[in-house]
Amino acid sequence: MMGALPSGACGVRIRGTGSAVPDRRLTNDDFARMLDTSDEWITQRTGIRERRVLDLRTQGCSTLAQLALERALENSGVQADELDLVIVATVTMEMTCPSVACRIAGAVGAKNAAAFDLGAACSGFVYAVNTGEAMIRAGRARTVAVIGAEAMSSIIDYTDRSVSILFGDASGCAILQADPNPSIGCIYQHMGADGTGWHALYIPRRESDIPAEDATNPIRLGNLRMNGKEVFRFAVTKFKEVIEDAFTKTGLTPDDVSQVVCHQSNIRIIDAAREKLNIDPSKIYVNIDRYGNSSAGSVGLCLDELWRAGKITKGQPFMMVAFGGGLTWASSVWNT
Ligand code: COA
Repeated sequence: MMGALPSGACGVRIRGTGSAVPDRRLTNDDFARMLDTSDEWITQRTGIRERRVLDLRTQGCSTLAQLALERALENSGVQADELDLVIVATVTMEMTCPSVACRIAGAVGAKNAAAFDLGAACSGFVYAVNTGEAMIRAGRARTVAVIGAEAMSSIIDYTDRSVSILFGDASGCAILQADPNPSIGCIYQHMGADGTGWHALYIPRRESDIPAEDATNPIRLGNLRMNGKEVFRFAVTKFKEVIEDAFTKTGLTPDDVSQVVCHQSNIRIIDAAREKLNIDPSKIYVNIDRYGNSSAGSVGLCLDELWRAGKITKGQPFMMVAFGGGLTWASSVWNT
């Protein structure tokens, strides 16, 4: 049910968080047994040691999205029927209709909520946070669940060593709620896109989706195709730019924030931005070694681990930042 809040300035508080990963681990040594690769190559080039994968016979994106939502509701003390809106950022929904958001809202009893999926690939969770926050500030919703969830294993061609080793399945959720203090919430957000670069990272459904320059790419239809070098070049530049922009526009310095919560794509991409911007390693959380790149799942998963560890400290700003397919990028700076 939208438009529940009377007009008037309000802030937005993160009431709680949740996340979920499948039990099943796929280690670098597991890949080395299947493909021509090694633990050493994967660890050095990506920082990944293992990732989690769903049992796709009985599980999917909705499984992880629902678990993260249930855990966030429990963590926040918010009741499912208080939710006005459920947004799920994903590119791996089981079905395009119904949305994952509709299914999980129904499953948890969020009977007063509007629900939709949002597609911004790895930037999806930050896009969803910014969208949910803005809906609350605009008075169109009071309580919003934002979720990033991916079943990357459902779009991975496990015969291709250049792509398959990178990705894992995960989800994360934050419950956002209107707060009487207008200075609490998102103080700066930026969302961008450059569709001219879409062919660096895409999931073709039909032969005709494949651009001529990628015709020899052996990855099967319905699976993720990636030009790793092109994405790497884009990411190293864009990631630093997006973080730098957020600091410049807010006047904050790395010392002022409790955390820069980053999309987990490749440890070399994270380290390059961190070193160029001179950010202390303790301020950039890394869990890519345990979960790989879980696309829209990654920032929400990091946020939940940080939230539960007490690292998102009240009274100190923090930042979320991501980039991904589309190409897309996003930042979100919060006063807590
Ligand atoms: N194991 C062993 N060798 C591998 C391999 C693997 N898993 N994957 C690729 N190789 C080989 C290549 O075939 C190539 O061999 P060649 O020199 O004989 O042709 C060699 O390693 C170097 O490949 P290259 O693609 O240049 O490696 P790289 O240093 O660029 O690392 C990625 C590859 C994918 C790790 C890196 O490009 C990357 O992280 N890109 C960004 C991906 C990303 O973040 N995507 C998500 C964005 S949200």
